[in-house]
Amino acid sequence: METIILKADNENIKAVTEKAAEIIKQGGLVAFPTETVYGLGGNGLDSKAAEKIYEAKGRPSDNPLILHISELSQLRPLVREVPKSAEMLISHFWPGPLTLIFKKTDIVPYKTTGGLDTVAIRFPENKVARQFISACNVPIAAPSANSSGRPSPTRASHVEFDLKGRIDMIIDGGRCEFGLESTIVDVSGDRPCLLRPGSITVEMLEEVLGKIDIDKAVLSRLEKGERPKAPGMKYTHYSPSARVVIVRGGEEQVIAKINELISSADKGLKTGVIASEETKDRYKADEVLVIGSRKDSAEIASNLFKMLRKCDYHNIALVFAEGLPENELGLAIMNRLKKAAGYEIYDV
Ligand code: TXA
Ligand code: MG
Repeated sequence: METIILKADNENIKAVTEKAAEIIKQGGLVAFPTETVYGLGGNGLDSKAAEKIYEAKGRPSDNPLILHISELSQLRPLVREVPKSAEMLISHFWPGPLTLIFKKTDIVPYKTTGGLDTVAIRFPENKVARQFISACNVPIAAPSANSSGRPSPTRASHVEFDLKGRIDMIIDGGRCEFGLESTIVDVSGDRPCLLRPGSITVEMLEEVLGKIDIDKAVLSRLEKGERPKAPGMKYTHYSPSARVVIVRGGEEQVIAKINELISSADKGLKTGVIASEETKDRYKADEVLVIGSRKDSAEIASNLFKMLRKCDYHNIALVFAEGLPENELGLAIMNRLKKAAGYEIYDV
């Protein structure tokens, strides 16, 4: 299939999003920018569109999709109830990078929710995303627009690399502002529970709700037989072909340990380090990829997936990443990095 790729700017945003909406109405798939990562959208009330999404991504069909809306009035028909905790989160953080899990109504197909009785809803802030969803006039089911297992796309070129020829259209809206997938909070149970950390941090959520539960899968690798509450959290993720190793601790210790591990690696292996602006000149690797300043975790978050993709681009076989403290945005960054590393971590 031929994939139409169109840049959306202020002049043509209306024409581009209307063309995309036409494709959605005919049952097709359109990748679109959001403030977190690019999404791969289809009609959220159509089982066939959901099947196409799973197939294009190579994604297991028990992994549910998020429904995206562009107005608050679209929420009610999709969910059985809006608990108080959800109301509070909505008034603080929507539109924005926060997904909420509700009990679903019958109009939401089980194909979209991977067989679950709950549904994930997100109201993105990004202007192109909103105009596209509005033009479609249905909720848009959209996972991240990568092939399953690869780092999420934060540029249209990433989507093109993974999915060109497999989907109908890509709307190029430039780079995604936050660069990590949305925070997910389950509000369908008795107590709100964080299922996936993101740019709306635990600290920000707790300012609104008080102490919240955190699903075990957010913090550590699950034991055999344990199930995360967000089915997607069980899959290996974000992996470049390279083996990824995290080293965390004091700055000098981390630099020394990474250099030691580079020296003792097989000479035939191309090595890399994902380093900060402050430490980039200290490494003896074949390739040093600069992710941003240690003082600016938002910059690090927005560049993480691009760096993981760069590892493949440079044919790196073994890449080391500096660990970060796991509070505020660091929790979400380390959650993605640990999965990319298959939890291979040195503490020094
Ligand atoms: O920022 C984002 O959330 C992006 C953009 C495109 O909106 N989307 C995204 O979708 O990251 P995806 O499919 O890559 O990740 C969705 C996650 C998966 O881990 C999935 O298992 C979980 O949300 N999820 C979806 N519906 C759920 C439900 N009903 N209960 C629990 N987890 C759910
Ligand atoms: Mg994803």
